[in-house]
Order: sequence, then C-alpha cells, then structure tokens
Amino acid sequence: LHAFLLPKVLAGKRVLLTAGPTFEALDPVRGLTNSSSGKMGFALARACAAAGAQVTLVAGPVSLATPRGVRRMDVQSAAQMREAVLQALPGQDIFIGVAAVADYRPRQTAAHKIKKGTSSLTLELDANPDIIAEVAARSDAPFCVGFAAESRDLATYAEGKRVGKKLGLVVGNLIQDGLGGDTNAVTLFDATGAHVLPPADKSEVARGIVAHIAALMETPHG
Ligand code: CTP
Ligand code: CA
Repeated sequence: LHAFLLPKVLAGKRVLLTAGPTFEALDPVRGLTNSSSGKMGFALARACAAAGAQVTLVAGPVSLATPRGVRRMDVQSAAQMREAVLQALPGQDIFIGVAAVADYRPRQTAAHKIKKGTSSLTLELDANPDIIAEVAARSDAPFCVGFAAESRDLATYAEGKRVGKKLGLVVGNLIQDGLGGDTNAVTLFDATGAHVLPPADKSEVARGIVAHIAALMETPHG
C-alpha cells in the first residue's frame, strides 16, 4: 500500500545486500553461527526495492519470506556468501553488508557426526575473509554501507570500521537495542559525523537508512 507513496530515491540503482548469519559447519549436524534474525537486512532490502532499486539479497540461514521483487540467493557459510557476492557484484551501485558473518570457521569439517568420548575437545579455527572490506577495496567498488552491532563503545568501533574498511557509511547499534526484535535504534556514521535516527520499527529505520544513502550518493565526495 505504501510502496507507491514513497519517493523513488533509488530509482535506476542496483543494490546488493547481505543479511542474516552465516553457518560454519563442524560436522553434518553442528556448526558455528552468529545470533542474527536477518530482519534488519530483509527490511532494508524491502525498503530499497520500494525506493525503486533493483535488489539482490544474499541471505544466510534465516526463516524469512523474500520481499516482493527482490532477487534472493541463499547461502550458508561465509565462503559461500563471498562467492555469491562476487558473482552478483558487477554493475551494482550500492553494496550493503547487513550480514552477521562468522569471523572464524572450523579448520576441518567432519564428514560424519563427531562422537563424544573425550573429557574435552579443542577446535581449530581459521579466519574468514572480510567480504565488505574486499568489495570496498576494489577499483570498481560500489558505494559501500556496513553495519556495526556492538556491546559497548559504539561510536569508536563503528567509526573505526568505516575508516578501516573504506566504507561510505556505517550503521551502528548497541546489540541490546536491536538483536532479534522488531525495533532498532541506530546511529549513522559517515564522513560528516554521527547522525542519530529515532528508535523505530525495523521497516521505519530501513527507510531512514535508504534516505540517508540516497542523500550521500547525491553529494559529491559523499
Ligand atoms: N563483514 C563482512 N565479512 C566479514 C565480517 C564482517 O562483510 N567476514 C561486514 C558485516 O556484514 C558488517 C561489517 O563487516 O557490515 C562489520 O561487521 P562486524 O562483525 O561488526 O565487524 P568485524 O570487522 O568483523 O569486527 P569485530 O567482529 O571484531 O567487531
Ligand atoms: Ca565480526
């Protein structure tokens, strides 16, 4: 109902997003993952489509319906998410990394169920590739937007990620304000400073983020 009332601020733009957690298999029935419902990423994909963008959504394991008009690619691991992103990347104007990507994966994935029997078990982990940092470092990089969910020192960490990963914008929130729920309280960190969005449901927050991205892309050197 609201879709045609919204200004089409992303008309003609192509937007690629990641959303949800990744799952790093340990054996056929177990793995490492992050707490992420995927709701913020899916709300943002829906808001981008409503703003007139052509949207591709690379989703980790979540139980959410695909927003209308959005092309969806389902993945499990960070390595698969990276592959899907690189495959979909050519021609994209905007990349938004909302996914809670697992920072590490088990060095080995057992082909069969790991059996108990020892009093302790040590897992060896290897670092996963940083997908958004890799995208933003490319010579043909789209406008890149990252997310930072922190448990403390939000401004310091979010700003550090924006500068360190060469992102145009970082959407920061304290995890106690957003995780799993239907509402979120975010602050937008860009080259001009920090902009607090009023706490609202995730679809309203998504529209605010879309409006900010559109404004930044109209600003030279934004
Ligand atoms: N990200 C990514 N690939 C990774 C890790 C993170 O693309 N392997 C992206 C996330 O989607 C998010 C941003 O980077 O947009 C920040 O993720 P976050 O986990 O907060 O930052 P990290 O750089 O992993 O730092 P840390 O977890 O130590 O805070
Ligand atoms: Ca991380």
